[in-house]
Amino acid sequence: MTSEKTFIGAIDHGTSSTRFIVFDLLGHPVARHQQEFKQIHPKSGWHEHDPDVLISSVVDCIDKAVEKFAQQGHDVSDIKCVGLTNQRETMLVWDRETGEALHNAIAWPDTRTTSIVRELKAKDGADDLRSVCGLPLSTYPSSLKLLWLLRNVEAVRNAYDAGRLMFGTVDTWLLYRLTGGKDGGVFVTDATNASRTMFMNLKTLQYEEKHLQFFGLDRSKIHLPSIVPSSSATDYGKLGVSRLKGTPITGCLGDQSAALVGQLGFSPGSAKNTYGTGCFLLYNVGNEPVISKHGLLATVAYDFGRPLKPVYALEGSVAVAGSGITFLMQNLGFATQSDDINALAESVDDNGGCVFVTAFSGLFAPYWIDDAKGTIFGITQHTQKGHIVRATFEAACFQTKAILDAMEKDSGQSLAKLAVDGGMSNSEICMQTQADLIGIPVDRPAMRETTSLGAAIAAGFGVGLWQNLDELMAMSRRDRTHFEPVLSKEASAKMFTRWERAVEMCRGWLD
Ligand code: G3P
Repeated sequence: MTSEKTFIGAIDHGTSSTRFIVFDLLGHPVARHQQEFKQIHPKSGWHEHDPDVLISSVVDCIDKAVEKFAQQGHDVSDIKCVGLTNQRETMLVWDRETGEALHNAIAWPDTRTTSIVRELKAKDGADDLRSVCGLPLSTYPSSLKLLWLLRNVEAVRNAYDAGRLMFGTVDTWLLYRLTGGKDGGVFVTDATNASRTMFMNLKTLQYEEKHLQFFGLDRSKIHLPSIVPSSSATDYGKLGVSRLKGTPITGCLGDQSAALVGQLGFSPGSAKNTYGTGCFLLYNVGNEPVISKHGLLATVAYDFGRPLKPVYALEGSVAVAGSGITFLMQNLGFATQSDDINALAESVDDNGGCVFVTAFSGLFAPYWIDDAKGTIFGITQHTQKGHIVRATFEAACFQTKAILDAMEKDSGQSLAKLAVDGGMSNSEICMQTQADLIGIPVDRPAMRETTSLGAAIAAGFGVGLWQNLDELMAMSRRDRTHFEPVLSKEASAKMFTRWERAVEMCRGWLD
């Protein structure tokens, strides 16, 4: 097999869109297709996805990208394996006998579980969870969403009582259905996705019985996917649908882990920030998990299987980044395309005194304020759309600054530069603002499909296309843009003080 004739496919299923990209072994994208899918908001704070649409969007993207690949004169059989990366925490339940979902997927930003979170925080054992699973009790992890379904949806409760309930994060649902569903589909999850449920012990990479008991789950009534490494030639089965039917799936990673891998963040101390629907900063801490004392999460960064040890990360999760821009476009009618949003940002010199705390799902790291609501401060008759756009960009940048401060306290290290990717990183203004607010350079690769690339890398590893991580470093000699901080420290600190004051004023908006 020559490297010129070897390609890897990556299914990249995010919160707002799905894409499929075919990569060569140097990490260059060769063919791609992307599709947005519907966001369902049945009530304020609720956020769902149609389970069948998740599947059809993946199959469509594979077929259309493979068509483009073939049109370039390539042989489809040269796509040797496929990797999957996915939005995390979003969860589904389905019936073991029918293989059909019993409810829409509840997406990670959904806040319907606020009162369950409060109830559980007061329960014995609540304080012990975080040191084992790495996550705080909040509306964010999958476990709380499962509890809500068990309490509120009869079909889900009935399936549970009958011992037929299957639970999975999006990776598990996609893998199950893409490899055959009830007719022999695989039922697995990788360690990065499992580390977002609160059910997994970060050290053993197995389900923690005490946690299942804490959430009141009876293991004999619920089927949980087996936890497997992120790279594996045998665990993920073969695609049973699409133009790539028969191609093995050999890698799987939660999307933020995939972005860290795609940025080649393999050494302890490397970090990346991905500005997608939300914005997620992962900092590689090496082979032992670090439990944060300053509002960050501990998570599995990636697990390439034995003899390699799993690698962990400290994570700062921001619920709203690109979804803030989508809000400006779709809900407030600011623009119809993201280029126009950038033009609005460029039409003004600064935020005009506005601060927008984009707390649509409460505030995540490092604040964890579940009763915060989105609030814009500082509006006057001078305020233009451009000022609000600037303030929306700045909201993600301020939270990133707060996360970096927390990471410095937890790790005792300060970051020399921040690698970035994701849709909002396309904005020069946004990235310059980020550099100004954190006071270190922001480093943006020219090839920004790092999440998909990470999935491709995991898959390639699974079948031995690279023997070790060093071989991958050839990919790092890519063009990158550096944004150097230009704002004075005083001016930056003043902006941040205003932000923190605004955050405090957003508290206490319980429904
Ligand atoms: O934890 C949620 C995260 O995985 C979603 O990522 O890229 O859809 O914002 P993204």
